[in-house]
Amino acid sequence: MLNNINKTIKTFRIRSRKLSVKKHNNINIYWPLIGINLEKKKNLTNYFLNLYTPIILEIGFGFGEYLVNLCQKYKNINFIGIEVYIPGISFCLEKIYKLNLRNIKIIYSDALFFFINYAKNIKFYKINIFFPDPWPKRKHHKRRIIQRSLIKIIFKRLLINGILHIITDSFSYYESILKILKKFHGFQDISKIFKNFLKNNKIFNSRFKQKALVKKNKIYNLVYKKVF
Ligand SMILES: C[S@@+](CC[C@H](N)C(=O)[O-])C[C@H]1O[C@@H](n2cnc3c(N)ncnc32)[C@H](O)[C@@H]1O
Repeated sequence: MLNNINKTIKTFRIRSRKLSVKKHNNINIYWPLIGINLEKKKNLTNYFLNLYTPIILEIGFGFGEYLVNLCQKYKNINFIGIEVYIPGISFCLEKIYKLNLRNIKIIYSDALFFFINYAKNIKFYKINIFFPDPWPKRKHHKRRIIQRSLIKIIFKRLLINGILHIITDSFSYYESILKILKKFHGFQDISKIFKNFLKNNKIFNSRFKQKALVKKNKIYNLVYKKVF
């Protein structure tokens, strides 16, 4: 499970606190059922019972609250969550197992590493990145996950009419993402259609959404459709 970490710039902090016995057990028990051990030759769709339904990918799902809520609601869609934070993965695996959800798989990997090495034969219906680490200090901006290089890969990996959905409560991050997306031909800004997405949305729940609300931060919602 633990070999999918990119050796280059990290977009995340490696937090090496020891896992509790429970979290460790969750990984041992549920990973073989829900986790994907990436293999170059195996197409990711083969991990699902229903091979022909669209796939939604969430990058950096944290504890997976939103991912699991969506997955419960839309049984006719397949979901993949990708994360590097093991306590979050452990929590999410347990929830998925207890809810008996069959339309979701989890990948432990740096998302960029995953896209470059393992996602060549797959197209996603939607890719969500919610509250990516903002890396507020200027000297750390290079560690932000949303760079032109990632957007370029995501664009290739989306179906036509596929959607990239990004949410952040960092204004400077929002500005830099907007700058990248505006210059990117092939993406149409459909954020206005989703302008009420955050209002009274009980399904869209996550720890970082809660943190933003407590701090009364403005939340920016960017939704782009791949049009060609
Ligand atoms: C600020 S948290 C937000 C978590 C969750 N989306 C939420 O709203 O609560 C950002 C998450 O992205 C994950 N992350 C950062 N860089 C990543 C990468 N390159 N690949 C996969 N996950 C990454 C982190 O481990 C962290 O859990």
